[in-house]
Amino acid sequence: MLHKDVESVLISQEKLENIVKTLAKQIEKDYNDKEFMMVGLLKGSVVFMTDLMKQINLDFPIDFIIASSYGSGTESSGRVKIVSDLTLSCEKKDILIVEDIVDSGNTLNFVINYLMTKGANSVKVCTLCDKPIRRKVPLTPDYCGAEIPDEFIVGYGLDYAELYRNLPYIGILKRSVYE
Ligand code: IMP
Ligand code: MG
Repeated sequence: MLHKDVESVLISQEKLENIVKTLAKQIEKDYNDKEFMMVGLLKGSVVFMTDLMKQINLDFPIDFIIASSYGSGTESSGRVKIVSDLTLSCEKKDILIVEDIVDSGNTLNFVINYLMTKGANSVKVCTLCDKPIRRKVPLTPDYCGAEIPDEFIVGYGLDYAELYRNLPYIGILKRSVYE
């Protein structure tokens, strides 16, 4: 049953499973001979990352960063800060950042630079969704599950005002919820 605040389903559960499997295969192939660490950006990446990591048949540590730029609205403020840092060292490691969605690109731009200054060997990005039309800083994700139109989406980890993260699909949020 569709949630009452959701206009329509954009990516079904079944499609999400296929997307995750395809991304995992690519990552497995590319990182086969590398010592990499998977870094999730909380909280949006949590559902995607738990599904993704289970499909990658390699040995790797995971860690998390909380970066904030949003507040509770639907627009990025552009001012990014690290609210909670890595617990492991990223020095000389090949880092794969896992993100729910790239919008303006501000968050990832900041986090990539941050990890490089902390001594990472390389930093790549795997995002579930991308809204390329909204980009404000140049940034192309290395792995992308789906390019999506300029709509506000929720579910499968993505929130609006901290809700809807638990929906098993990705849906378009009704405009009446935030307008
Ligand atoms: P950026 O810094 O503007 O690229 O914003 C990226 C972050 O904004 C993502 O990690 C999400 O937390 C949030 N975000 C952007 N678009 C959406 C959306 O459509 N639904 C839910 N969260 C979004
Ligand atoms: Mg996020």
